[in-house]
Amino acid sequence: MNGSTKKKLSFQKNGEFKIMAIGDIHEKINPDEKTEDFLRLMNAAAEEQKPDAAVILGDIISGTNRLENRHATPDELFEGLKRITEPLVSRGIPFAVTFGNHDGETGEPKEVLFDLLKKIPGFLNTNDSGATGCGNSFSLIYDSEGEKPVFNLWFIDSGNRAQDGSGGYAWVDDSQIAWYEKNSNALKNQNDGNPIPSLVFQHIPVCEEYLLLKETTIFNPYKAKGHGRFSGKYFVKRDNCHGYLGEGPCSPDKNNGQFKSWVKQGDVIGAFFGHDHLSDFVGLVHGIVLGQTKCSGFHIYGDGLMQGVRMLTLRESDPWSFETEMVRYRDFFGTKCNSIKGYMLYPDRWHTNFETSLKIAGAGAAAAAVAVCARQIIKHMKKRIG
Ligand SMILES: [Fe+2]
Ligand SMILES: [Fe+2]
Repeated sequence: MNGSTKKKLSFQKNGEFKIMAIGDIHEKINPDEKTEDFLRLMNAAAEEQKPDAAVILGDIISGTNRLENRHATPDELFEGLKRITEPLVSRGIPFAVTFGNHDGETGEPKEVLFDLLKKIPGFLNTNDSGATGCGNSFSLIYDSEGEKPVFNLWFIDSGNRAQDGSGGYAWVDDSQIAWYEKNSNALKNQNDGNPIPSLVFQHIPVCEEYLLLKETTIFNPYKAKGHGRFSGKYFVKRDNCHGYLGEGPCSPDKNNGQFKSWVKQGDVIGAFFGHDHLSDFVGLVHGIVLGQTKCSGFHIYGDGLMQGVRMLTLRESDPWSFETEMVRYRDFFGTKCNSIKGYMLYPDRWHTNFETSLKIAGAGAAAAAVAVCARQIIKHMKKRIG
């Protein structure tokens, strides 16, 4: 491991700062060929893109030792965390995490994962916000001289399940919003009364992602099913939404005002989420870019070779805008993948269509068989009656 990873973030001399956002990994305690494919992706992306920092967007690791059918020990979790961060650590790339709902289900409290991550060089989060959750924190990016902060990155723990026991997903609560606003105001005061432009990273998307979509019918081939309070409805992207909509956002059913708070503070220019493994759409809502990063790991349902990481490029000369693109497994390795086989090599819509075709063909064959049987029975009955 490279113990010399710099934690103070600053723009490069060329005026750029590149962030690699890594979608859900769902790493297993017992590594296999899916782990190898994920590490190939990470190494290739880090080597080509040379990010200045990375953010792991949650649902990082599962807490089950499948070979021995028991909960993982902290030592096993640590081995897993070291394994998946090695492509970053070996290149001296500092990284942050935003815990996901499944990170609260490893059998250990998230604080244990946090303390393990703290032992890995380059880990950026702190855990002293005093607000609900683990690892709510922010990291300033300084100018290329390393003197003045010009940009900020917020890392928010979006929780696990809905606080009211309704079974949906958690919302970022009042204490977290108050913590964000307090620090946002403090940074503004330190910056001659001007907000510091920033990006938010968290696992569960805000409800406002649905404003990038419009309702459609079940017959639309580009539809995605809504979730939670939008269950039973179908959606497609609006014209101002780009990228892939593979599933309706699994945001909380209650809107606790987090997005509204960003708009009020005026410092957030974009927010990026994991949690929804298939989607990588991006669009502008009330002046803030909202974007998905589909899953990066191969252990869980995903989008085949279209999986990858999201790159975000900031420029010191114009910190109020940024560029973003997905860098995909397929870009590096074509269809060479050890853990994905057959039609699963292709994007999820292709799986879905293929599986739907199989079901229709199966239903057709069953109907034909029933018709043949019915004809035989009628023939037989006619003979007997005759
Ligand atoms: Fe996930
Ligand atoms: Fe999740």
